[in-house]
Amino acid sequence: MPRKILVTSALPYANGSIHLGHLVEYIQTDIWVRFQKMLGNTCYYVCADDTHGTPVMLRAEKEGITPEELIDRVWHEHKADFDGFHVTFDHYGSTNSAETKEFAQAIYRNLKAADLIEVRSVEQFYDPVKNMFLPDRFIKGECPKCHAKDQYGDNCEACGTTYAPTELINPYSAVSGAQPERRNSDHYFFKLSDLRCQEFLRKWTRSDTLQSEASNKMQEWLGSESENKLSDWDISRDAPYFGFEIPDAPGKYFYVWLDAPVGYMGSFKQFCNANNINFDDYWKQGSDAELYHFIGKDILYFHALFWPAMLQHAGFRTPTKLFAHGFLTVNGEKMSKSRGTFITADSYLKQGLNPEYLRYYYAAKLNGTMEDLDLSLEDFVAKVNSDLIGKYVNIASRTAGFITKHFGGALMEMPESVHPIYDQSSVIALSNEETDRADINPQSVNKLDATRDEDHLINNPQKLLHEFQSASPALAGIYENRDFAKALRLIMRLADIANKFVNEEKPWELSKLGIQPEKLHFACSLSINLVRILTIYLKPVLPKLAVQVESFLNVTPLQWSDALHTLPGGHTINPYQHLMTRVDQKQIDAMIEANKQTLEPATDTHSPARHAEAQQHAIAPIAETISIDEFSKVDLRVAKIVNAEHVEGAEKLLKLTLDIGEAQPRTVFAGIKSAYDPEKLKGRMTVMVANLAPRKMKFGLSEGMVLAASGDAPGLFILSLDDGAQPGMRIK
Ligand code: 2FM
Ligand code: ZN
Repeated sequence: MPRKILVTSALPYANGSIHLGHLVEYIQTDIWVRFQKMLGNTCYYVCADDTHGTPVMLRAEKEGITPEELIDRVWHEHKADFDGFHVTFDHYGSTNSAETKEFAQAIYRNLKAADLIEVRSVEQFYDPVKNMFLPDRFIKGECPKCHAKDQYGDNCEACGTTYAPTELINPYSAVSGAQPERRNSDHYFFKLSDLRCQEFLRKWTRSDTLQSEASNKMQEWLGSESENKLSDWDISRDAPYFGFEIPDAPGKYFYVWLDAPVGYMGSFKQFCNANNINFDDYWKQGSDAELYHFIGKDILYFHALFWPAMLQHAGFRTPTKLFAHGFLTVNGEKMSKSRGTFITADSYLKQGLNPEYLRYYYAAKLNGTMEDLDLSLEDFVAKVNSDLIGKYVNIASRTAGFITKHFGGALMEMPESVHPIYDQSSVIALSNEETDRADINPQSVNKLDATRDEDHLINNPQKLLHEFQSASPALAGIYENRDFAKALRLIMRLADIANKFVNEEKPWELSKLGIQPEKLHFACSLSINLVRILTIYLKPVLPKLAVQVESFLNVTPLQWSDALHTLPGGHTINPYQHLMTRVDQKQIDAMIEANKQTLEPATDTHSPARHAEAQQHAIAPIAETISIDEFSKVDLRVAKIVNAEHVEGAEKLLKLTLDIGEAQPRTVFAGIKSAYDPEKLKGRMTVMVANLAPRKMKFGLSEGMVLAASGDAPGLFILSLDDGAQPGMRIK
């Protein structure tokens, strides 16, 4: 039976851009969800923008727009960033929705009915100029301990002391500069200190819901059985506030952290409504669906205490597990705006860096614990180039061409695996095992880990295939436990073995000598089958690359269980097209520079408005407007690069032979030598201007022009077409 799983990532605030730190979590979650889907489980991934609170309200005011306008704009920015990194939600919503409001109010009403809400008068700082109560971070003043000036209301950045804002010396409002007054106001509290909450949380913590580090934290927060260390939680804020009003409490709003996790429910509800799914199957008490929240370790408190206690006492199911991860450092240090390592998702993509490089690198570092993760940029370049290009892509690029050239693209039948192959049910059964990370299916893991006599595999195709196929259940267990680092180590070991096999067989020599065509055919067919299996194992991490490989292999979308069989004899593959280029250190340097430049002058660099402004400066000015008639004079065609070669004596040019469906192919000299290896262009589809007047050049006649993108930063990018485009098709 497929499992029913609902997965969330933390909701990003609607007042800042997505950066590489955020992406650790979204990429981690996306990989896990994709893996579950490949297994055939019903797995939904929802998220939303976290829109409420004072910072959003004040930012909108500063920009002269409504909070709704601001959050709408940021929603689109966030969505574009996630799409750019192939983070694919089943639904991406907003906490500012009717659905979230309804659940927040229902939960509140139920808690109130259970006598878990209490009203108390609280003294707080009030800004008499702005006429509002000030959240701690909007009050500044002198540290009561070390007397450092301009410290925030909750802790001192100079000496690290934490205190109440009322303890600050000479406090002032960071919004208006005014001296704040102390005023009393009624606040609504969730009674977390109630014995029922405490008892429930102790039970919930015991039931294998948390990683060991998180569970230790929980014990610390809960204290021993005889203590009650939990305090009540202030869930209300006074108007003016951008949020949901509390039922029967005019002028009182839910604190942003009350409705943020409720946004998980609201977003899922929207998804259910649109797709005819029963919401209660996933959220009612006693539901047999699994619910997982991926979060950063900094927000464990909210997810491990308030959230489950709220759900439990409001009559909903509680999370199955929380998966907390550590923080990101870049080059071993905290991300820094001045060093240019505070890198936004958008600036990474703008450099033309392939998002799958980062997905791969993060996966290679994520092990399912709360340890921090370092993005060492030098290591990033080395690892991506060596693993992805040097190992994985290399197998196909060295063997596929011979299948196309000598055997019409048809593969040879593979031998049966020597040992019985696991069936799909055993893969799923294994992944279902709720074992500890360290000891999941120890037998198969150890077997994979061991250094073995690989030569004997290389000389025995049946054993080689079996080695690849039998990794499937172990890898499934490792993915399930989110130890992606381990999964990738094992997969790269398999890629190493496949490369050794190719080295041994030397298809290029067999092809050149023209002897033993059977041997050539078999070696290349087996290699392609190994590439296919590796692609299955890598697909959760590299979904886009997997789609490219699927189209090259001419197969339907690969599922996890597909690793257990090979391609049938006679199956034809498509001509190999270059799958991935190497990362260039220059692109990384340019990205760091770009982040220094755009972030340095600003004090408040998180502003989406600044972000948009920075983007505008980064592109060349848009040319003069033209009419549709003027545009249609340009005849753009799909061109297949049938040949590409160096031109002797030419510094920048490659000579391309282009098929655009005419009787004779065209010759075009293109200035793309700096960016492309001609070998890798062969067979690729691109776009050319077909009606440009032929131009006589030093090296011959150029009969058109190939289009390429470029900007101020280094890098040149010719265009690609989606599958199905044919040479000669007009582009309009
Ligand atoms: O820490 C944050 O960025 C919050 N916006 C996360 C909210 S997660 C969930 F509770 F909504
Ligand atoms: Zn201090």
